[in-house]
Amino acid sequence: MSSQGPDALQRSIDRMLTEANTRMAVGKNEEASRSYHKAAQFTEQLIDMLEESDARRAWSVRAAEYKQRARTLISKGGMDSKRVKPVEDHEADDVAFSDEEADALEQQILLLIDDTPSRVDWEAIGGLGALKNELKFHYGLAMAKVPDGIEVEGWNNIMFYGPPGTGKTLLACAVANKLSATFFNVKASQIVSKWVGESGRLISTLYRVARKFTRDGRPSIIFIDEFDALCKSRGGEGQLYHQQMLAAILSEIDGFAQKGKRDLVMTIGATNRPWDLDAAVLSRFERRILIDLPCTEARADIFRIHLESKGIPVDHRSLSYARLAEETERLTGREIARLCKEVTADMLGEMNPDIPALVDAGLKRIQDYEIKVRALKQGDFSAALEGLVPDTSEADAHHYADWGKAVSDGKGA
Ligand SMILES: Nc1ncnc2c1ncn2[C@@H]1O[C@H](COP(=O)(O)OP(=O)(O)OP(=O)(O)O)[C@@H](O)[C@H]1O
Ligand SMILES: [Mg+2]
Repeated sequence: MSSQGPDALQRSIDRMLTEANTRMAVGKNEEASRSYHKAAQFTEQLIDMLEESDARRAWSVRAAEYKQRARTLISKGGMDSKRVKPVEDHEADDVAFSDEEADALEQQILLLIDDTPSRVDWEAIGGLGALKNELKFHYGLAMAKVPDGIEVEGWNNIMFYGPPGTGKTLLACAVANKLSATFFNVKASQIVSKWVGESGRLISTLYRVARKFTRDGRPSIIFIDEFDALCKSRGGEGQLYHQQMLAAILSEIDGFAQKGKRDLVMTIGATNRPWDLDAAVLSRFERRILIDLPCTEARADIFRIHLESKGIPVDHRSLSYARLAEETERLTGREIARLCKEVTADMLGEMNPDIPALVDAGLKRIQDYEIKVRALKQGDFSAALEGLVPDTSEADAHHYADWGKAVSDGKGA
């Protein structure tokens, strides 16, 4: 390839991308794959000319993405994908992997299937009423029968963002539960550290297996937690693998669904650091949803859920969920759950002081002993609340809403 200046290189990249799209549109996947490879090569030349900067990092993500697309297209080419090598690909060995390796990757993917959602219902989530309804509506749209000749689009890719412990994972689980979806639980950083250098391939396998699981009309949900970990602009090898994984995810969620056929593989991302996500990522997620700190009413609901779900008796003459909620501003659902656990543990300690002695007296004595409980009172919480500092600072809490506003105004990442 002849050497070109940055502007000429960008034009060449655009040309290759247009070429790839045109070829893909007429089903020439192998040729499209070649165009993506050329786009990647031009992009790498461009990167070599740039100083370390956000723009350079963004181009690196794109280069990895184009390569991944080239690979994905080759594997969709309808030929013996494991033996086909893209032309001019100096990383061609990457494409040739054995059946045993492919099987090993599939086995790893099966380990990501998580049955937690079967235990999470909408009722276990306090507050967030309007959002729950919105989620039900859009996922309902994605699943319902569509009248002939009409195109209706539900959400396939959404991103939850917000402070830690506010219910992002719970919501993803409730969606999966209600849709009877197969739930693939992916922690971005774990995959990268476990599958050094293989994460791109692992992601393609993940989406392939997820599609297989949709055969009987049930959707698959791929939940990618800590999404920001893939976008961090740190240097080093880890960063390269993160970029490969990110590129693989973006190319999978970006338009490889067959035209006219609904894609029942849905991706839900989650992050506490939305400002680390770049434009390439954000543009792929149709909805970015802030799961904020619970409001007073929601906190009351969360107290009720956590005490009632364990069957702990409550003295309603003294204890009011509304009052507890007023005294716990800025606490997350996770902190409220922890508080309920602590207060319950203190009550159990107070009611059952003889347990250590009974354990000393032998197995039979402790097995015959029945745990005593008493109803919790407002005062039990007062002591636990004293001096409690919320995990989320006021500044942090505002940061999320400000970021959301900046992005929707077009000023953000
Ligand atoms: N709205 C809620 N209603 C009831 N419980 C909640 C709520 N939000 C959080 N919790 C409690 O906190 C725990 C953690 O919630 P979850 O895992 O959904 O948080 P998250 O937003 O995914 O946090 P992270 O960002 O750290 O992953 C839950 O298992 C639950 O006990
Ligand atoms: Mg979570």
